[in-house]
Amino acid sequence: LSGGTWLNGKLVTGNQQGISLRDRGLLFGDGLFETVRVYSGMPFAWPQHRKRLEAGCATLKIDCPLAEIERGMAALLQCVKKMQEGSLRITLTRGEAIRRGLLPAPGARPTLLITSQQGDPYPEHAYQQGFSAITVSFPRNHRSPLVRLKSLNSLELILGRMEAEAAGANEGIFLNLQGELCEGSVSNLFVVTDQGEIITPPVSCGLLPGIARALALDLASQQGFTAREEKISPSDLYSTSEAFLTNSLLEVMPLISLDGRAIGSGLPGPVVTRLRRIYREHVQAFISSNY
Ligand SMILES: Cc1ncc(COP(=O)(O)O)c(C=O)c1O
Repeated sequence: LSGGTWLNGKLVTGNQQGISLRDRGLLFGDGLFETVRVYSGMPFAWPQHRKRLEAGCATLKIDCPLAEIERGMAALLQCVKKMQEGSLRITLTRGEAIRRGLLPAPGARPTLLITSQQGDPYPEHAYQQGFSAITVSFPRNHRSPLVRLKSLNSLELILGRMEAEAAGANEGIFLNLQGELCEGSVSNLFVVTDQGEIITPPVSCGLLPGIARALALDLASQQGFTAREEKISPSDLYSTSEAFLTNSLLEVMPLISLDGRAIGSGLPGPVVTRLRRIYREHVQAFISSNY
């Protein structure tokens, strides 16, 4: 068994995976998700993911079935015993459409789907090489509440990721309506200044408050770096000596080129390499403290 599914209160397999054909997640993308990294069979940074999910549910006025989510995660991790390294994806929709139209009807029971994925998300050589990126051709609306939610409405991000793929790049970086950098299609963005400061755009620039982003900022500060939120312009990114991307599965990934131009030397730089090591040490400490 390389993965499993928790759907509405029970573990299900293969052909049992029934879900209403009128589910609002399916019809409208009306819901949220979280991707949680699993290390040594334990969900990492779950309190932070839980908090973001609860906040998103409050914004969308979806009841968040926390106890069931935690029961499902535990059941899946128990069932997929071989899953030492991997991830859980928690998908929560508003539930079945009770009436026609966009407006949610009161009383819908949210649909909860949790799936597991086994294995290390990225191979070591990807980190040695670093990621390439392109600037996506259309902007993110930083005034929309949607850009701050981990929403099931991923179409802008999908189009951005497809543009990157078509250009042979690993990631698409979005600018906002003011031409400032926001984030990648699946990641948050950081640059390292000439003074060795670590900068990432504030959430007000129109981005998901990433769990790995917050952790990278914290760990960098704890290790004596100046790490802060500040607006970044495309020319800052073109001229920076080092940049990197974060997400819960990528952790800290060096960004080595943008739009076909090398960032710095075009190789993973010393600050990013150190930060990646610091992140890994934090993960090791998490694993040890939970044994
Ligand atoms: C658009 C976007 N920004 C940022 C992130 C990083 O979020 P996290 O660090 O919580 O994984 C993701 C994660 O997939 C994302 O989809």
